[in-house]
Amino acid sequence: MSATRKAYRAAILHSIADPAEVGVEASYQYFEDGLMLIDNGKISALGHARDLLPTLAADIEVEHYQDALITPGFIDTHIHFPQTGMIGSYGEQLLDWLNTYTFPCEKQFADKAHADKVAKIFIEELLRNGTTTALVFGSVHPESVNAFFEHAERLDLRMIAGKVMMDRNAPDYLTDTAESGYIQSKALIERWHGKGRLHYAVTPRFAPTSTPEQLTLAGQLLGEYPDLYMHTHLSENLKEIDWVKALFPERKGYLDVYDHFKLLGQRSVFAHGVHLCDDECQRLAETGSAVAFCPTSNLFLGSGLFNLPQAEKFKVKVGLGTDVGAGTSFSLLNTLNEAYKVMQLQGARLSPFKSLYLATLGGARALSLDDRIGSLRPGNDADFVVLDYKATALMDYRLQQSNSIDETLFVLMTLGDDRTVKQTFAAGRCVHQR
Ligand code: GUN
Ligand code: ZN
Repeated sequence: MSATRKAYRAAILHSIADPAEVGVEASYQYFEDGLMLIDNGKISALGHARDLLPTLAADIEVEHYQDALITPGFIDTHIHFPQTGMIGSYGEQLLDWLNTYTFPCEKQFADKAHADKVAKIFIEELLRNGTTTALVFGSVHPESVNAFFEHAERLDLRMIAGKVMMDRNAPDYLTDTAESGYIQSKALIERWHGKGRLHYAVTPRFAPTSTPEQLTLAGQLLGEYPDLYMHTHLSENLKEIDWVKALFPERKGYLDVYDHFKLLGQRSVFAHGVHLCDDECQRLAETGSAVAFCPTSNLFLGSGLFNLPQAEKFKVKVGLGTDVGAGTSFSLLNTLNEAYKVMQLQGARLSPFKSLYLATLGGARALSLDDRIGSLRPGNDADFVVLDYKATALMDYRLQQSNSIDETLFVLMTLGDDRTVKQTFAAGRCVHQR
């Protein structure tokens, strides 16, 4: 990485706490004319331009943006890389959707050349949408994870991924065994976990597609290496939940299956959690486990409405997930637009600052990475985005009517998508420019 120093001057906004814990006003910092100094891939100073400009060495270049807002890069806490080519597949709910579309699509990732091609498309799409960190499902094939990490490493991105473990209730062409899943995962961990800014996630697809033997070995892996992630699905769809009860009748419920196999913890992320009971929320919170809220996917597959107030009541860590390809957009701005509507349908509100939190610091906390990403705190990785107030004619006109950063932020989330992201920076380097 280059050791360059550079300053960025613009309106700058970031979350510093969860509005549910400290109230909206104490949850963010906003500098109407702000300055952020980047040094060797990290943020080294943040504040008002009037305070920081006089302190800068004479040779430091200052990039000055008009009509733009700098925020932290977005964090997608649940997405499937091999499902890029099947977004918008018609007509089914979860279990039929998996059999009809998902498994045949994932089959192609046995071919490394195919995986390489899609990894490039997938990562470009993340960056185009301002996503600088994602927790990513591969396919069952180690090739898929190698392709993804090889490409992410070239761009020095902070990314988390894992190979799917799946040894039953799926087509033969897409299953491993308890033993091969363990051995392949271990080899990928040895190769990638902790390399640069990359992290590995042990990734059993969901309880129905793993035998007790495989879940036991997944738990064993988590005990063998420090700071590994665990990434799976939980309580997304009512038929899925019934199926889990039938497969594991001796367990109290869906979450208890994972709990029994020692899969809960500070780096465990469960996608969806649409149908959780209070006891499950309690258990997620006390183990430090997180839920990925995936509104576009939950609406698209007709899975249900995520109960964010319930998660807040029990202090469950929550991040935002696109869940592409059941999710319908790579854009976390667009995902927040749908999240707002999911709350409206439950008679609840999603404030723009809570939304910002979910897409940034909340995601970082869900991934136990808030000491490195999710806010623009000096010392953090310089992963940030420049959002363009004039991205579209409608955005430009609408924002001319805005009187406050609250209103501007809400409009960015309601009208925004990849067109809103002018530039994306990772470790201080521009990795996407519109
Ligand atoms: N549950 C098990 N696998 C999947 C998947 O690929 N997508 C979603 N949305 N749910 C799942
Ligand atoms: Zn998913």
